[in-house]
Amino acid sequence: MSRTIIISGVSSGIGKATAHLLLKNGYRVAGLSRRTSKSEDILNEFPDRFLNLEADVTDVDSLKVAVDKVQEKFGQIDALINNAGVGHLGKIETAKLEEWHNMFDVNVNGLLSLTHICIPELINNKGHIINIDSVAGHEVYPEGVVYCATKHAVRVMSVGLEKELKGRVKVTNISPGPVETEFVEHTSDKEKVAQMKEYFKDVLTAKDIAESILFALSQPAHVAINEITIRPFK
Ligand SMILES: NC(=O)c1ccc[n+]([C@@H]2O[C@H](COP(=O)([O-])OP(=O)(O)OC[C@H]3O[C@@H](n4cnc5c(N)ncnc54)[C@H](OP(=O)(O)O)[C@@H]3O)[C@@H](O)[C@H]2O)c1
Repeated sequence: MSRTIIISGVSSGIGKATAHLLLKNGYRVAGLSRRTSKSEDILNEFPDRFLNLEADVTDVDSLKVAVDKVQEKFGQIDALINNAGVGHLGKIETAKLEEWHNMFDVNVNGLLSLTHICIPELINNKGHIINIDSVAGHEVYPEGVVYCATKHAVRVMSVGLEKELKGRVKVTNISPGPVETEFVEHTSDKEKVAQMKEYFKDVLTAKDIAESILFALSQPAHVAINEITIRPFK
């Protein structure tokens, strides 16, 4: 039977490309996002193996309802891809406090909530957790300090989960460099958006990251890929 994968943030970018690639490779996918209309094209292409679920990773109850629906439809959960994330970049002195909080709520607390809900089932099924981190989880750069702090937290969770769950659940931390997605659009500092759009030209594609996720997922049972860092070659 094909494996069931939950992906958070499936309405655009890396999450959407990953859902599509995994479905093409025979997996069953439950995609979580707030804007489910943006994943209807995937649903139309794979009506039997794709579940398009509305959930906000900052709302624990909506996650519990969504995970229950995955169990109802597919009967099991084999892997969780914690992908939903936001980056509000810009200078410290003009940053909005609510955007700093939102980055921690989505990138860190959202990942914790979904992981906490899925852990028992993942342990039962000798499953797999894939956290979409960033090179920002390995480096710290100006005008991205709080985003880097959230992504360092993601990496620490990956490393810690891998140690504690060794032999029970595989854990993979994936750290992309710049990827051309909607990501840059969410920054409210328009000067920073323009600067980032320039920097994000001819970088990685969402499909490049999806391929690395498929690689990690499709290893034989005795192989665990723990860290993948991907940067544009330019
Ligand atoms: N693009 C890059 O350069 C880059 C580099 C390294 C790492 N990353 C990481 O890759 C991941 C995906 O980013 P992306 O580049 O694909 O960005 P994106 O195109 O903006 O996609 C972000 C996804 O996260 C979802 N999301 C945001 N807030 C959410 C919430 N409260 N509840 C549920 N879903 C939420 C969005 O769905 P809805 O808005 O529909 O809810 C969307 O599907 C993020 O963790 C990001 O930090 C990106």
